[in-house]
Amino acid sequence: MSDEGERLTELAKRRGFFLQSAGAYGGVSGFYTYGPQGAALKDNVEDAWRDRYVTREGHMEISAPDVMPEAVFEASGHLDGFDDMIIECPECGESHRADHLVEDNTDIEEAESVSTEEIAELIAEHDLVCPSCGTGLAGEPVDDFNLMFETNIGPGSSSPGYLRPETAQGIFVEFPQLAEYARNQLPFGVAQIGKAYRNEISPRKSLIRVREFTQAELEHFIDPETDEPPLERVEDVTVPLYSAKQQESEDGDVQELTIREAVDEGIIGDEWVAFYLGLSKAWYERIGVDMDRFRYRQHLSGELAHYAADCWDAESELGGDWVEITGFAYRGDYDLKKHAEHSGEDYTVFKQYDEPVTVERPTVDPDMSVLGPEFGGAAGAIGSELESLVERNPDAFDSDAVTVEVDGEEYTVDIEATGYSVEEVTESGEHIRPHVVEPSFGVGRLVYTVLAHAHTTDEVDGEERSYLSLPPEVAPTTVGVFPLMDKDGLGERAREVASDLRAAGLEVTYDDSGAIGRRYRRQDEVGTPFCVTIDYETQEDGTVTVRERDTTAQQRVAVDDLAETLTALRDGDLTFDEL
Ligand code: GAP
Repeated sequence: MSDEGERLTELAKRRGFFLQSAGAYGGVSGFYTYGPQGAALKDNVEDAWRDRYVTREGHMEISAPDVMPEAVFEASGHLDGFDDMIIECPECGESHRADHLVEDNTDIEEAESVSTEEIAELIAEHDLVCPSCGTGLAGEPVDDFNLMFETNIGPGSSSPGYLRPETAQGIFVEFPQLAEYARNQLPFGVAQIGKAYRNEISPRKSLIRVREFTQAELEHFIDPETDEPPLERVEDVTVPLYSAKQQESEDGDVQELTIREAVDEGIIGDEWVAFYLGLSKAWYERIGVDMDRFRYRQHLSGELAHYAADCWDAESELGGDWVEITGFAYRGDYDLKKHAEHSGEDYTVFKQYDEPVTVERPTVDPDMSVLGPEFGGAAGAIGSELESLVERNPDAFDSDAVTVEVDGEEYTVDIEATGYSVEEVTESGEHIRPHVVEPSFGVGRLVYTVLAHAHTTDEVDGEERSYLSLPPEVAPTTVGVFPLMDKDGLGERAREVASDLRAAGLEVTYDDSGAIGRRYRRQDEVGTPFCVTIDYETQEDGTVTVRERDTTAQQRVAVDDLAETLTALRDGDLTFDEL
């Protein structure tokens, strides 16, 4: 683990952000418990996400089950294709993620897109060894390992189920009903914040690669023919883009471009993806991601998930590595089509035309009194194939006879016997299958990024100070309230102030233990942006000291105005300088 990672893990455990679960039983890899500070920070990040991607965009939010039946994942392709590459050490039996072994020990940066055979060759070529015991791994097989956790629904094993590996499938599978809630009007978005589970081969780097994590996903359903994103809202936003082309070129680098430039130059191929990259940049800044440690990286073609046509990741720099914190994918109609095929249900929306239109529709009406005697037992299947052919390829009926294939055999039918004709029909609309644009955020990785990027040290009163420069909106606690000393009625007054601030909806910590400087440091270390001290002046003139975390500047504020002032500071409606 990097120095930054070690510092953060120590702080996280000591101050209640997060810790490995079930430590009393030796801990379990890939599972973390958020402590009081961490749970509050995570909630605040989720609230900021909901505010940005649900409330302000007018989308719906749902909450689907974590466990779903096998049929869902058969349809989605996860049962067959949601694999990572595994290699087992012949000596100690430890399993490792084979592509990560290659990335960690060679110059190759994105080994996920390489085939299992090539990874096995690279392991042999570079003489890679087991990280646990040092045994050589050359010649050991590299296999696919499915990442889903399997369970049984109810007693027995007749009804297998899986913990969802992405929250998205809970949205796709309910699409027919969700489309009705949206009154069949495209475009519409459905969001979900919830747990996802992946049986990672080698969980690592604390919250970065875990087996149970929270995703915040938005599935935006669009008509690919007519729906355009409101690109004008973000076209002037400058974004750091690391395109596939730049990654593949020898001296390729991140390009700072506006969204409009990136679209016009074809660097971001899809305007909806471009819209979400532009929209999200300000949101990352809002929750405290350091823009000097941030970029958008396009997936290389071999790296794309089985459902994605194009994908860009938002990445943050952590301990010297770039880590994906969000995937922005164009999923096309992959998921809705698969669920329609597997369930037999209708996964389309009916799109009403502005006015009814009259169209020519080629049809057939096979004459069974001719087909029966001529083709015997195959006549029925030939009739069905003619019906299907006229929809697929009406031009095939432009000659005197039509040839169809049934069970590998060809049959030629006289055009008269097909009953071919072209009818005029009036249609009021059509069924279309929406396409999906998906921003998918990993909440744990966001929390980790925000903590790592907020961690700062400086010197105050000749002593080193460590603090978290968290934006007030996401900080676990907004205000620390202290009496200068717990005597002469200062403690009672401070408890009253704390209680009034809580009643006003602020997150408050009360602390009366130790020297005041120590109390400030405790709050600094968990990122509390403001501290209020009740002293003897409070008793004289009804004012308190408000101290700002990053600058340590102090101002006196009337107790009567305190809740309003702190609320305005938290919400960004007032700056400390303006006090
Ligand atoms: N529905 C699309 C999807 O799940 P993904 O790129 O596999 O796409 C989305 O995951 C986000 O979920 C990632 O950007 C990452 O932040 C988070 N994530 C994925 N696997 C994770 C893991 N093992 N531990 C922590 N977060 C993870």
